[in-house]
Amino acid sequence: MTALSDREDFLHRPRLHVLVASTRPGRAGPPIAEWVAEHARTFGHFEVDVIDLLEVGLPFLDEPEHPSERRYTQPHTKEWSATVDAADAFVFVTPEYNFGINAALKNALDYLYHEWQYKPVGFVSYGNSSAGLRAVQMTKQVVTTLKMVPVTEGVPIHHVGELVVDGRFTGSEALAGAAGRMFSELLRVANALEPLRVEARAQ
Ligand SMILES: Cc1cc2nc3c(=O)[nH]c(=O)nc-3n(C[C@H](O)[C@H](O)[C@H](O)COP(=O)(O)O)c2cc1C
Repeated sequence: MTALSDREDFLHRPRLHVLVASTRPGRAGPPIAEWVAEHARTFGHFEVDVIDLLEVGLPFLDEPEHPSERRYTQPHTKEWSATVDAADAFVFVTPEYNFGINAALKNALDYLYHEWQYKPVGFVSYGNSSAGLRAVQMTKQVVTTLKMVPVTEGVPIHHVGELVVDGRFTGSEALAGAAGRMFSELLRVANALEPLRVEARAQ
């Protein structure tokens, strides 16, 4: 029997951006994102890119107009717009700072509007005992305003400090299983929302 994910892949092979949300020196984000990207590639139904907000290098929002107008004045905004436009789905690899969303991620979200719309997002969150889940809840409020669709399935990583050693993240079987369930749901939702993304890109 053909798996549901195989049938959906037949319809479309979506582009998944694995977004590294943290930017500080010594951050845990990149090794976790590499682990996520490796599993997403093994999953086999996405084109996978890792997008690192440190490399994107956005200053604090410096556009005069609301992003829904798409009248961008800065080269970095135009580049960021093209990057986000290219994605069909996202995984945000996100820390929790002071029980909430980290500033670099909020700023990157605020820069754009149409480019985020009708794209599913899954969360790989990390922290101490909270596993970053308070940041995820806060981020869901923001992304739904941008008409993104957060999927329920996610990968919550507890006590991240113990799992990133010498710049490498080692995820358990349980976390790998959770990632697989998140990819399946992202694929299903990304394909279902495709007609709406086509419309939004034309605006
Ligand atoms: C400014 C700051 C605030 C933090 N606040 C929290 C927090 O609210 N909850 C938590 O579980 N961990 C918190 N931590 C610890 C982080 O979970 C841990 O340092 C993690 O590695 C941060 O992600 P990053 O390394 O990618 O920056 C905080 C760390 C920083 C730097």
